[in-house]
Amino acid sequence: MANAGDIIENPLTGERITFLDRNRERMRIRVELPAGAAGPPMHYHLAFTETFEAVEGSLDLLLVGGKKNRLTLKSGESAHVPVKVPHTFSNGSDEPVVFECEISPAREWEKSIRTAFGLARDGRTNKAGVPKNIWELALLYELSESYMTGMPLFLQRGVFGMLAGIARRKGYDPEFSRYARSGSTMNLADDRREERRKHVIAHAGEVIENPLSGERITFLEVPSEANGDLLRFDWDIPPGFSIPEHVHPRQVERHEIISGTLRGRVGGRERDYGEGERVIGPADVPHAWRNPSDDEGLRIVSELQPALGFEKLLVDGFAIAGDLKTDKPGIPGHVLRIAILLDEAGREFYFIGVPLPVWNAFRTLVAALSRVGRMLGYETRSPEHRPSNDRRKAVAFLAVGLAGTALFAWLRRRDGSHRRTFAR
Ligand SMILES: [Fe+2]
Ligand SMILES: [Fe+2]
Repeated sequence: MANAGDIIENPLTGERITFLDRNRERMRIRVELPAGAAGPPMHYHLAFTETFEAVEGSLDLLLVGGKKNRLTLKSGESAHVPVKVPHTFSNGSDEPVVFECEISPAREWEKSIRTAFGLARDGRTNKAGVPKNIWELALLYELSESYMTGMPLFLQRGVFGMLAGIARRKGYDPEFSRYARSGSTMNLADDRREERRKHVIAHAGEVIENPLSGERITFLEVPSEANGDLLRFDWDIPPGFSIPEHVHPRQVERHEIISGTLRGRVGGRERDYGEGERVIGPADVPHAWRNPSDDEGLRIVSELQPALGFEKLLVDGFAIAGDLKTDKPGIPGHVLRIAILLDEAGREFYFIGVPLPVWNAFRTLVAALSRVGRMLGYETRSPEHRPSNDRRKAVAFLAVGLAGTALFAWLRRRDGSHRRTFAR
């Protein structure tokens, strides 16, 4: 439970809650709500009352008790919200407002607010703060003991109760222990740490492997850690591995050969580079790389400058490759993750030799799949922290299947019309 002084923050609204004190009968919190911030949707409680008291600025409180009651509480003024009375609050002023709220009895209020903020922080809610995952939504509904206006109570309890029952059977944690405890990742200090961790993609010295291609990368210098613009890594490339001819319009690529042979084609000129030699792929100049040997590995030190999205592309791309290899039932989901990754980080290069209409069709497909993936809550990072979700998998299957069929049909039609043109 709360340690007095614990602070949590809602990234969607900027609302910040400090836990003041609690005992079995009641708990007290201090809330800072930014100028213009909306509060929760209209709701009511049956198990506890809430008393609001403005400390600084003015708090807009809307109560629906028989007739609508719109209050603006100024510093020192308070209002009591009894059970069954629908209410919401907001800050319509252009100054932040600070208010205190007493919840009596305290029940599970703290757990539910920590969970609601935690889900929002992890991107697991929509913009209105409603959990995207229906099982988490049902469990949070139960935990919060807050009821919606506009839907009969027996109906909402029936529907959410049933869903929450299924969620428990599926193994979801109804206590949301990840978020609900004091000192869980919901603490503001932890939040900041987590935030930094999210932005640092790789660490210097970190090794990643791609089990599909057999590549292995040791990062030497990463922009996300050093705040720089250079990505430098030691790259083990297996025999026969090649990257087809492509262009980075805004990025220079440099390689130094440590051992083995690198066959490079830069600006149309091909040659082999041996140990100790260096080769540059300038911005906007087509280049291709290959390890021409049948049995000898190639080791090079590579640089990309500016790094743009390549650190993420490598780290998350290798992670997805690993998941594709080990998690066969999750393949449609991992395809959606690839689409999100290419949509986010793959705009900085294009392949030569792919006709422009095909490339454009591919990009359109990637953008559409990436949107579906995001809507379903997929991320490019490894999904091991998320529970599996059958509905999500089913939709992923459908989306990837439909997109694949559409592309196949389109390519066949194109192919057919070409043939007809040539036959004429
Ligand atoms: Fe409330
Ligand atoms: Fe390149």
